[in-house]
Amino acid sequence: MSLRTALCDLLGIEYPIVQSGMGSAAGPELAAEVSRAGGLGIVAGLGVTSDELRKRIRHVRSVTDRPFGVNQWLHTELRPPADPARVPPTTMGAVQQELNVFRERLGIPAVDGPAPGMPDLIDAEFEVILEERVPVWSIGLGNPVPAMVRRCHERGIKVMAMVATVEDARAVEKNGVDIIVAQGGEAGGHRSTWIKQPREAANVATLTLVPQVVDSVRVPVVAAGGIADGRGLVAALALGAVGALLGTRFVATRESMASEVWKKRLLESDGAHTTLTEAYTGLWARSLPNRYTEDYAASGAPVLPALMQQRAAQDIFTTAARQGDAEHSMLYAGQSTGLVHDVPGAAEVVERIAREARAVLERLATSR
Ligand SMILES: Cc1cc2nc3c(=O)[nH]c(=O)nc-3n(C[C@H](O)[C@H](O)[C@H](O)COP(=O)(O)O)c2cc1C
Repeated sequence: MSLRTALCDLLGIEYPIVQSGMGSAAGPELAAEVSRAGGLGIVAGLGVTSDELRKRIRHVRSVTDRPFGVNQWLHTELRPPADPARVPPTTMGAVQQELNVFRERLGIPAVDGPAPGMPDLIDAEFEVILEERVPVWSIGLGNPVPAMVRRCHERGIKVMAMVATVEDARAVEKNGVDIIVAQGGEAGGHRSTWIKQPREAANVATLTLVPQVVDSVRVPVVAAGGIADGRGLVAALALGAVGALLGTRFVATRESMASEVWKKRLLESDGAHTTLTEAYTGLWARSLPNRYTEDYAASGAPVLPALMQQRAAQDIFTTAARQGDAEHSMLYAGQSTGLVHDVPGAAEVVERIAREARAVLERLATSR
């Protein structure tokens, strides 16, 4: 039974399976394997210099001539990045005071100045995407202006934007994107909005968000959030989506750049206890809970603007990863972590999901 959908025709891929361009997990090895296996692999662009991004793009091309994408965040707080010097000293002091609790636990020096400033990488990265004529520009946490979309279209680049509300789906469609990813609240990683919302906002589950988005826009919709196997892919198609985008499932693959402790925690977790935290980056994201997320929330300390929080805490995350300390590492994961029980190669994940989805479709066609 064929799994071909409009997404396959639009992008020239074999299966309607998209791997998220996950910051800190999706390097060129992962994206290349997914694309080689017939899905759409996406390379993370978050926090990467334009030279590094070009290297990643060329690495994918050295492995496969199949279509792939590059992901960027376009959050309003990153364009331009917020300036640490403009954060009130009392706020910065309260953040550092809480971070120093973790630093002491890990045996690293206390810090009491402002967080390091952030380079403005987005425009230079975007030029590389255009120059390299990457087949798909994937956007998280942002709405590309029509001029950016037009420049992509002039070079034959398809534009795919991820949203978490119907209103945002209409907004990105208006600006000309070719594909909309509807991200349900189960999803791992950051809530895809371009303005920071309260914790419970933009948190509609995939099962209800996807059909509403499908009914509200004319462009093809890809479902994201809580999908980790062939059953999930078929469910997405039943909701009117033309494919599924998966993050958490691909974190636990051999080619993912996620640390070993992160992958191990994913396998141990049953998905019942993910949490929403703003303590990693300043924006809401779904993660496995650990001492860092729990103690930060309990402290009542404020958080810094988008990604400045991560720059402030980076010494903690880097040390924790080096020490193999899951309690102070970033452990992004969605509720589908309860469906993830192994760490196979990424190509095997694509093939397995396609095989399972076909079996589900056959079973549905023959059962009453
Ligand atoms: C570890 C991790 C990192 C992520 N990083 C990004 C990112 O950099 N850009 C982006 O557009 N989405 C990112 N996402 C969100 C995914 O695109 C997607 O919405 C989500 O993974 C889908 O839900 P699932 O995790 O249940 O598969 C990330 C997700 C995870 C789990």
